[in-house]
Amino acid sequence: MIRMLLLSICLLLAGERLSAENGSRLWLRQDTTANAKVECSLLSPTLDIACSELKRTWKGTPVSLELFNDATHTALGPEGYTIRSGKNGITLGSISEKGLLYATYHLLRLQATQQDTQSLHIEERPAYPIRILNHWDNLDGTIERGYAGHSLWKWDELPATLSPRYEAYARANASIGINATVLNNVNASPEMLDTPYLKKVKALADIFRPYNLKVYLSVNFASPMIIGKLATADPLDPQVANWWKQKVHEIYSLIPDFGGFLVKANSEGQPGPCDYHRTHAEGANMLAEALKPYGGIVMWRAFVYSPSDNDRAKQAYLEFHPLDGKFLDNVIVQVKNGPIDFQPREPYSPLFGAMKHTPLMVEFQVTQEYLGHSNHLAYLAPMWKEFFQYVKPESIRAIAGVSNIGDESNWCGHDFAQANWYAFGRLAWNPELSSESIADEWLAQTFTANPQFIHPVEDMMMQSREAVVDYMMPLGLHHIFAWGHHYGPEPWCTIPGARPDWLPSYYHQADRKGLGFDRSHTGSNAVAQYPDSLARMFDSIDTCPEEFLLWFHHAPWTHTMNNGTTLWEELCRHYQHGVDKTRNFCQTWEEVKPYVDTERWNAVNERLQIQTNDAVWWKDACLLYFQQFSKMSFPKDIERPV
Ligand code: GCU
Repeated sequence: MIRMLLLSICLLLAGERLSAENGSRLWLRQDTTANAKVECSLLSPTLDIACSELKRTWKGTPVSLELFNDATHTALGPEGYTIRSGKNGITLGSISEKGLLYATYHLLRLQATQQDTQSLHIEERPAYPIRILNHWDNLDGTIERGYAGHSLWKWDELPATLSPRYEAYARANASIGINATVLNNVNASPEMLDTPYLKKVKALADIFRPYNLKVYLSVNFASPMIIGKLATADPLDPQVANWWKQKVHEIYSLIPDFGGFLVKANSEGQPGPCDYHRTHAEGANMLAEALKPYGGIVMWRAFVYSPSDNDRAKQAYLEFHPLDGKFLDNVIVQVKNGPIDFQPREPYSPLFGAMKHTPLMVEFQVTQEYLGHSNHLAYLAPMWKEFFQYVKPESIRAIAGVSNIGDESNWCGHDFAQANWYAFGRLAWNPELSSESIADEWLAQTFTANPQFIHPVEDMMMQSREAVVDYMMPLGLHHIFAWGHHYGPEPWCTIPGARPDWLPSYYHQADRKGLGFDRSHTGSNAVAQYPDSLARMFDSIDTCPEEFLLWFHHAPWTHTMNNGTTLWEELCRHYQHGVDKTRNFCQTWEEVKPYVDTERWNAVNERLQIQTNDAVWWKDACLLYFQQFSKMSFPKDIERPV
């Protein structure tokens, strides 16, 4: 009896230990006692990783890793690969070691998601050569818009102490095909380029290299003044250009495969070329020239606006479109997916498609700055797929995601936020993948492949982003967040001294007549920045898709919606749907309890409760506020706001 008791205590403790690791293992949780037969005739740090991953985890026929230089593999490019079954087992093939590493993770994913691994004939190549995370991490360890603890990079310990999480981070990225990372905030500290910091960056780059993860840095345009003690940062000043050349030389002597710079210039108070009456192109090109001899690139951000101008949504286009064709060929202009700022729903930024002679890349936000931080479950693949419905994947050159990773034990704060890191990587590799299939893959690897779990939870994930739109900003409403933290509602903002674009008169413009921002030809005419057919569709209140109605129109409260109800009624219903959906999520989570370990079940459950309360808060706050203008009563099927 006593032995039984002791045994159960031991089992319980073992279970606890196991579950404490639960979040930290991300989607890489397969049994590692396989001892598979793996053949590889070459040795290198990257192939060592691939071989030991397979040896530990692969449970099928023997695998061999081979470098090829035939036409098929050459056509698949340096990161592409094949996976083929043959008489003697499976062959992973590529022209490069990195291709073999990606093939390895592909094969292991097939096993983890319980797919057929008997007759494989797979050919893969990534859609973009640069699939990059942007960390908004500061040198003091805080993360701008980060909701998962502090920075992973322990700058005060580096380079002497190397946290095991650095390698775990690189491995997780490699497993989903992310091949690049910007380590620091776009609001960049000039100190990042000081020699002691560069040595710390080198230590990270050395760990990341075998995982094919290239390091980039955000730079402050005024660095030549602040750390170089020059009198100016004017990009046309030869001393300035020379300072950058020296700095770049120093970086490459430490990190020979350094990727390049990400720059936020003349935006939200950051210094830039316009301070010297130079253009963004002149600023970017000066840096590009310094990087060119080493194969480095500049990712120059187009996130610029002045809050006092009449329509922020038009400004990036107005400033960048005239510069089309003026950037050197190792500059990529990095554009946020929408024209304002990562709102739960935005139409795509009209710069895409308009800059015919300039390589562009899209910047998605993985961290949920405007989607409930790490408290709300919001699976973002459908939002990014929506962008690709308008912007052809092949029209852009690269893809960036603002990271949601911090030093919390489960990396992302919310266990389901890991799915957004995962989905970003998978879509960056192949934007044609469906959101559903990515969710399924992630769930099977992260929790269980049991369909009783996957079906309801995939369904919950698929509805989650639309739920956030519904309870925060339906029908094209945007930016009605509380000042500063971007979490709760504040459509009424009356803070003295608040920025002009934060006032009710800017984004939602509720008045006696109606609601929404008139961006049609009778208003700011932002519609004209889109290609003709879209411009016409957005311009007319009758053809504008309802999800963008209040983005492009100031619609009367009594405007007849597609289903015959009024705008006011439909608005109320969307808020109510959002609330109802979050309640359903709680119910679903309750039902799948048997399939999830206690630790993660509780953590997610706690957050779902917060999300549901927040949804009610948003609904009540917004509807009571807007009702002051509509003066219409709440439809019967809506819970009375209190
Ligand atoms: C948003 C965000 C800022 C960030 C900025 C950017 O405005 O709130 O914290 O610095 O975007 O993308 O540069």
